[in-house]
Amino acid sequence: MHPKAGTILRLFRAEVGYVSGEYLSRELGVSRTAVWKHITALRNNGYRIEAVTSRGYRLVSSPDNIDPHEIQTQLSITKIGQRLEFLKQTSSTNADAFRLAEDGAVEGTVVLADSQTGGKGRRGRLWTSPSGVNLYCSVVLRPSIMPHEAPQLTFLSAVAAARAIELTTGLTPEIKWPNDLLVSGKKVAGLLNEMSAETDGINFVILGIGVNLNMTADQFPDELRHPATSLFLESGTRIDRSSFTSTLLNELDRLYADFLTHGFGPVREEWQRRCNANGRQVVVTDSGTECRGGRFIGIDSDGAMLLRSDDDLLHRITCGDVRVI
Ligand code: BTN
Repeated sequence: MHPKAGTILRLFRAEVGYVSGEYLSRELGVSRTAVWKHITALRNNGYRIEAVTSRGYRLVSSPDNIDPHEIQTQLSITKIGQRLEFLKQTSSTNADAFRLAEDGAVEGTVVLADSQTGGKGRRGRLWTSPSGVNLYCSVVLRPSIMPHEAPQLTFLSAVAAARAIELTTGLTPEIKWPNDLLVSGKKVAGLLNEMSAETDGINFVILGIGVNLNMTADQFPDELRHPATSLFLESGTRIDRSSFTSTLLNELDRLYADFLTHGFGPVREEWQRRCNANGRQVVVTDSGTECRGGRFIGIDSDGAMLLRSDDDLLHRITCGDVRVI
């Protein structure tokens, strides 16, 4: 996309109604004919732009593709998204981000893909990643924290994804320990963080985020262990993938800046408030076997779940599946 076309999009977004051709030509420092050429190029790229004589132009809708330039025009960040890599297809954005980080990529580098052929889920599972519908995103972070504190960043990404879903759709997602995002009890997003570390510090962390945006029921594999859904299926409205991506990156950026200044406390508080088990009675199962019951108290600074059993003992749980009863 031509930088002037990017500026036109930014100016459209800053206005509620029409933007006059004269104003655009003044702001861009080009002739009205040149403005018209950029508008035509934007239309050819799928932007619907209305033109009304004596009023000007209005952006009606943006194309449903992930467009890094489009995303950049909507970012208000200091770190996350300062470098954006977009791939039409890849094996796994986490693997790509890991390689880039090993080669010295700057903190805040983001890898996005339209589809993944080997999307990585937790516990070695495959993350279904068809093209044209969802968000697959990995972010490189280089925080000065100890390796055992790295799970705090997974909680941070869960909160950012929950906020982005809420801001975009008005739906209120719940977080299920350790890090699934649910809408109406069905999984809508998953997080997979990976890291490179030494005993005394972290080289980098990769935040891997997958959100089912516009997937339809027939695109989910039959063998999913947990019921899954998409924001489109839950809200009935198609989600603009570029806008969603920028909302997510803006929220990640804010939360990460806050994390670096104030530590894990604010993230932990918001994560617990959004957790489906907060303060409730739960059962933890491991490989299908019930291993512990109790009241969900919260999460520890290393990500362990804290349960209080009926005999008033506090238990730290680090693996298993939680069911609210
Ligand atoms: C889970 O099992 O819940 C975690 C799923 C994480 C999927 C995302 S999609 C973007 C990033 N790249 C990957 O290969 N995996 C993560």
